[in-house]
Amino acid sequence: MQLREILEKYPKTEDYLIEILLDYQKTKVHHYLSEEELKEIANYLNVSESKVSSVMTFYTFFSMKPKGEYVIQICHDVPCYLNDQNSVQKTLTNLLNIEIGETTEDKMFTLEYTSCLGACDKAPAMRIGEKTFTSLTPNKVKAILAEYRGKKHA
Ligand code: FES
Repeated sequence: MQLREILEKYPKTEDYLIEILLDYQKTKVHHYLSEEELKEIANYLNVSESKVSSVMTFYTFFSMKPKGEYVIQICHDVPCYLNDQNSVQKTLTNLLNIEIGETTEDKMFTLEYTSCLGACDKAPAMRIGEKTFTSLTPNKVKAILAEYRGKKHA
């Protein structure tokens, strides 16, 4: 969906800034907004570009840098940590050959930490997009990654 189409769904008031940013970022394959796009949003709402940038940098779920098509968020709160989150993380960093905060060269995956995903009883957990994976083991992580890689080549 084009930015213009999304903007036109909302009244021209600053109150909708976060909704617009969320709504538009969701449509972007690489989960980020460019400077140009932020400028267009600022113009539409008649707010300063610095206001839009400050909202973007305040909330960690917004990005001004392209990410992988699939953002893998590893829970690193205490219950997951105590249930061997470390081996999940190691498996991912080894298989993808990147560290937390990085994106694979083919722009397919980004690895990030997240706080509790609400699945502590089935720790360790991670999320890819809208989907949460629980009771993870290194083998389960390998199978999940293979499935996502397969989607790309399907
Ligand atoms: S601490 Fe990881 S899901 Fe709650």
